[in-house]
Amino acid sequence: MPILVIFIILVVVTATIHLISIKRNAEINEIISDLEKLKLNPEYKEAAELNIEFFKAIRYPFLYIRWLIFRAPKIRKNRGKILELADLPLPEWQKKTHERFLKLERLFFPKIIQPIKKRVISEIMSMQGRKKPIILLDIGCGSMELERQIIEELVKQNFTHPVIFAGVDCTSGMSDVAFKNLSSLPSSSLTEFSDVPNFRKDAFLAIMKNLVSYQGTQKFSVVFLTTNIFNLETLPENYFDLVYHSRLKHHVMPEKRGVLEKITTYLSSKVIEFDDLCIIPVFIFPSIITWRWPLTLNGAILSYLRDPSKHELLSNNNTGWELKMDSNLGFYLRVYSKTERNAIPLPKQRKIKKLIVSKKQLVSVKS
Ligand SMILES: C[S@@+](CC[C@H](N)C(=O)[O-])C[C@H]1O[C@@H](n2cnc3c(N)ncnc32)[C@H](O)[C@@H]1O
Repeated sequence: MPILVIFIILVVVTATIHLISIKRNAEINEIISDLEKLKLNPEYKEAAELNIEFFKAIRYPFLYIRWLIFRAPKIRKNRGKILELADLPLPEWQKKTHERFLKLERLFFPKIIQPIKKRVISEIMSMQGRKKPIILLDIGCGSMELERQIIEELVKQNFTHPVIFAGVDCTSGMSDVAFKNLSSLPSSSLTEFSDVPNFRKDAFLAIMKNLVSYQGTQKFSVVFLTTNIFNLETLPENYFDLVYHSRLKHHVMPEKRGVLEKITTYLSSKVIEFDDLCIIPVFIFPSIITWRWPLTLNGAILSYLRDPSKHELLSNNNTGWELKMDSNLGFYLRVYSKTERNAIPLPKQRKIKKLIVSKKQLVSVKS
């Protein structure tokens, strides 16, 4: 009898692994075929080739290990040019990547957004009791899984002060992913989800004014802005009580990172930056955990190749920024607190471009 049970378990496990690998290979082939088409566009040729090489390598473990040992270090040397699949104009794969990434963020282990979640919650707690609602901005907010977990935690702790979570992301279709994700919160938690498809300062400030004056019992609301962070410099200085970003920095081209810092520190007197560190162990553990999901593996490994080393972080840290690194878990947090001495002036304001605003939607989440 026990032999029969062991035999059945072995058959089930082998069949499951086989099915997973058939599905995995089919997905890899589909991605490669879309990348081959994108390669014809000169703007994305190099990035498409790099991704094709990556996806071909992850077909088999030994090819992947060879890629990690011999190719990855060379790619890192020229890391300013790396683009992940989610950075390329392939909307279907962008959406799928973010949907899978949020599943990873929801896992009980390894809790990959825990450090920034804890820090943002502690900042929110410290603002409790003031007269106005707390206004936050998440840059490169993606699926807003971070906000979902923060709201869940605040509800658990009976936090009653109104909080407005604004999120900005430049990928089109991301607001749908965020809306669907936040819809899993109980209806009693969220007042509304406002979607501002094409950012325009006046439309955004009008929505914010409405939310600030909201007198109802539900305390948390979300405003999603689909735009590039570099368009936000027209907003009033220190408009937000806290600006934060999680795993965004490595997506910003190196020559633009200084401007990113100037904009974030202009928009708030408190800024939190969270991202991963490039250390050898980060390549091993996620490779095993995400092997099953080629999209997540691509995002994780190419991100790590773009991330800073401990040495780079230490030598480039500007004044006013407190730096905390965790080499065991492979992440860092940088926190900026504005004082008169370290306030960074914005570059000369650009002339405000005339933007065409498409329809503004105001939708209630499970109202
Ligand atoms: C790795 S994802 C992180 C998502 C989310 N912050 C999280 O931790 O789950 C990076 C996100 O930044 C967005 N992004 C990259 N560059 C951006 C920019 N210049 N302006 C706005 N969003 C940007 C991408 O669209 C993507 O959703």
